[in-house]
Amino acid sequence: MELVHALADLRAALAGWRGAGASVALVPTMGNLHEGHLRLVDRASEAGDRVVVSVFVNPTQFGPGEDFARYPRTLEADCAALRERAADLVFAPTVEEVYPEGSEEATHVEVPGLSDDLCGAFRPGHFRGVATVVTKFFNMVQPDLAVFGTKDYQQLLVIRRLVRDLRLAVSIEAVETVREADGLAMSSRNAYLSPEDRARAPLIHSTLHATAERLRAGERDFAALQSAGLQRLRAAGMEPDYLAVRRASDLGEPTATDRDLVILAAARLSGARLIDNLPVRLP
Ligand code: PAF
Repeated sequence: MELVHALADLRAALAGWRGAGASVALVPTMGNLHEGHLRLVDRASEAGDRVVVSVFVNPTQFGPGEDFARYPRTLEADCAALRERAADLVFAPTVEEVYPEGSEEATHVEVPGLSDDLCGAFRPGHFRGVATVVTKFFNMVQPDLAVFGTKDYQQLLVIRRLVRDLRLAVSIEAVETVREADGLAMSSRNAYLSPEDRARAPLIHSTLHATAERLRAGERDFAALQSAGLQRLRAAGMEPDYLAVRRASDLGEPTATDRDLVILAAARLSGARLIDNLPVRLP
């Protein structure tokens, strides 16, 4: 497995593979890899001949006062984990390589509408940062396919939408959320949790399940379901940003006849902001 930091070196490796007729799968990450990321790599290696994993903590998707500075940077351990899976190349560029003119006034990509709701409402500019950096990585790697986790459900829809809107020739694969034994979705930010908050964090997942059960039992008062979920999280000492029942296809407000739903939540505890979601297909 090769580790490259410069775009020119990435392009040289890609040219060799392309010359040999190989397809390329990309797994974009911010590093600090856990099993959830490694499953994306497994999927990428099933679907593509060569696998590139990008490791880049993207400054433009963090807001003022968020955890950009303290986000764990563990490139050596990440490379060791990737050597055990089927990654061919790790691309870990500098901020200057990705944003040659600086990130403040740089050209950007914005997916309107979808980016402004839910996490976007609480993290203004976040999805613009994600859409911009993912488009840059698509341009730098020119992958045939790219693999993302469904834990970041809204991010996945934003990326699918930008690929469609910009007519990009990359297919997007989604891989299910990987969970700890107690149901907590794996996330690099779980490391921020105090032992007490780590013990209560699985309540996010169980609250999504409880809400899903009520939907399956026929309840359609989405506002009541949402406020019951929020109350349950608050009662456990969390500060939820939102808990919402939405249409799975576009995150629109559902009607009583919609069948393909997703319940999404974001909550803060120990200064960590955790997100999770649960798709619900009603009969
Ligand atoms: O999901 C992430 O880790 C990031 O948002 C991504 C897609 C790598 C863009 O920085």
